[in-house]
Amino acid sequence: MNIAILASGGDGPGMNMFLYSLVKKLKKHKITLFEYGYKGLIEDKTCDFDLNYLKSQRTLGGISIKTSRCEKFQTLNGQEKALETLRKRKIDILFVLGGNGSLAGAKSIKGKGIKIVFVPCSIDNDVFPSDYAIGFDSACDRCKQYIYNVKDTMRSFDRVCIYEVMGRDHDAIANKVSKMVNADYTYTKNSTLQNCVDALKKTKTKAPQIVLQENVLDVKQFAQELQNELNREVKYCVVGYFQRGGKPTKLETKMAKKFAGACAKSVNTSTIYDLTFCQSDEKGEISLKIIE
Ligand code: F6P
Repeated sequence: MNIAILASGGDGPGMNMFLYSLVKKLKKHKITLFEYGYKGLIEDKTCDFDLNYLKSQRTLGGISIKTSRCEKFQTLNGQEKALETLRKRKIDILFVLGGNGSLAGAKSIKGKGIKIVFVPCSIDNDVFPSDYAIGFDSACDRCKQYIYNVKDTMRSFDRVCIYEVMGRDHDAIANKVSKMVNADYTYTKNSTLQNCVDALKKTKTKAPQIVLQENVLDVKQFAQELQNELNREVKYCVVGYFQRGGKPTKLETKMAKKFAGACAKSVNTSTIYDLTFCQSDEKGEISLKIIE
């Protein structure tokens, strides 16, 4: 069979492990690796990495075949060009590694003769209905490391600190990280300044920590408002891209391999439909679901 793979949207640790494991399991098939996601599909750009190279990349963060956010793929013309490439190369199955935006992209070319398998990869863990997306556990782990380091110095001064974490519009990272570091307040979409102030006034912690979901408010302004309300020093840190890189955690590695195993099995048993969604339940069991 002729199989193509691309990565689209935000990268995350574990994607290289998934890629290596999948290619290894499918090595009897012809594999085409498109670079820069849907952009590479439109422009017919591939990379000729062999299995040894993919193996050397498997424990690294990022994604070796590169990714992009491709606006052109949102147009009919872009989608037609991508399909032309797939047809010209006689691709039977296209694997798409990505988050919500990439899933919408996959849906836009579904049912046009090329079978698609979608694999949830997003540090935000927001790819419904999968309970897990590759990258999430590592991103939370990176936030924890970051916060632990900053916390040491915050404790020396008894300072309040706000940590803004990623997640786009989703609160999964904020909630999980908050638990991991035992934060005094988690600021998400439904929070208010008053609730936060009340919680901090009640806490016995001398250097309280607040985990803030990104895109909810302006962190600099929030720190100033909190400082005025509490009448004490408030600092803030934006964890930023630090949380999207580095080695996959043990759980990530395990999940990446499990996703790859389920995908390879479905190819080898020909149980792939127009658009197949690879999903994990809360126990980490992987199954494949047809998307209508
Ligand atoms: O979707 C993953 C993510 O890391 C979000 O958490 C974040 O809002 C966004 O990507 C950042 O995107 P970019 O890499 O395009 O700046």
